[in-house]
Amino acid sequence: MDIDGKSLADEWLQLTKQKARNLKCKPGIAFVLVGNDPASQTYVRSKRKKCEEVGFNSQKIELEQRVSQTELFRVIDQLNTDPKIHGILVQMPLPSQLDQNAVIRRVRPEKDVDGFHPINMGRIVLGDLSGPIPCTPHGIIKILEKYDVKTEGAEVVIVGRSNIVGKPLANLLMQKTNPGNATVTLAHSYSHDLPAICRRADILIAAIGKPRLITANMVKEGAVVIDVGINRLDSGDLIGDVDYDNVHTKASLITPVPGGVGPMTIAMLLHNTLECAQKASNC
Ligand code: GUN
Repeated sequence: MDIDGKSLADEWLQLTKQKARNLKCKPGIAFVLVGNDPASQTYVRSKRKKCEEVGFNSQKIELEQRVSQTELFRVIDQLNTDPKIHGILVQMPLPSQLDQNAVIRRVRPEKDVDGFHPINMGRIVLGDLSGPIPCTPHGIIKILEKYDVKTEGAEVVIVGRSNIVGKPLANLLMQKTNPGNATVTLAHSYSHDLPAICRRADILIAAIGKPRLITANMVKEGAVVIDVGINRLDSGDLIGDVDYDNVHTKASLITPVPGGVGPMTIAMLLHNTLECAQKASNC
């Protein structure tokens, strides 16, 4: 059966919209976009559209591809002290002259709606889930909860060790919480015999960014399959990291692309922004 990420995201957006009405201020988020990567432009456009739908203020700051780190820091510092801005999102990836980790550290942890700052990431590793949780992993946790997927004692295989998805998600699923208490394997491009590792999974999560890498022979009958990939083919089609056509009959539950994890990522971004606004002294 397909997981309907779009409907679940709509439920979350409605809830966020209602909660925002009770605030003294209007939540505000700033998107910082460096260069003109078409995929990043598309993501920021969709995120801003949802901000409008839930009644948040959003602002887009576009910087040229060759911007210096000093100039980017100046922009971030200004947003850090702007009382109308509760969340700052610097769209990744960044051009190579910029130190991505230094940029992440520059955003005040209280405005880090991505949950990427070492303070926020460290909190998750230590099992404290009171701060912002990275949006894609958070969206996946909410999907598993909604569809009553039991993680306790389950074999979870995550393919892909990114800071944005794989690493935080592995930490969330191994916590002594529900959902959590899973046996987590984090596989990646150097893993030996990836098909054998994947076949062990009760819950298989693909977050590698390689179109249709996960084929039917890598999936156990009845497994839950979560596809984080968003790959644009030369034909213009969007496809996931999972060979959906051949895997969906084998999986008990599967997220389609588009319409699976993607909408939940945006819903969790707005949820994080709302929580940052709720904690701000002026809201
Ligand atoms: N690039 C791809 N996904 C993300 C995300 O969740 N946040 C940011 N800032 N950049 C991204």
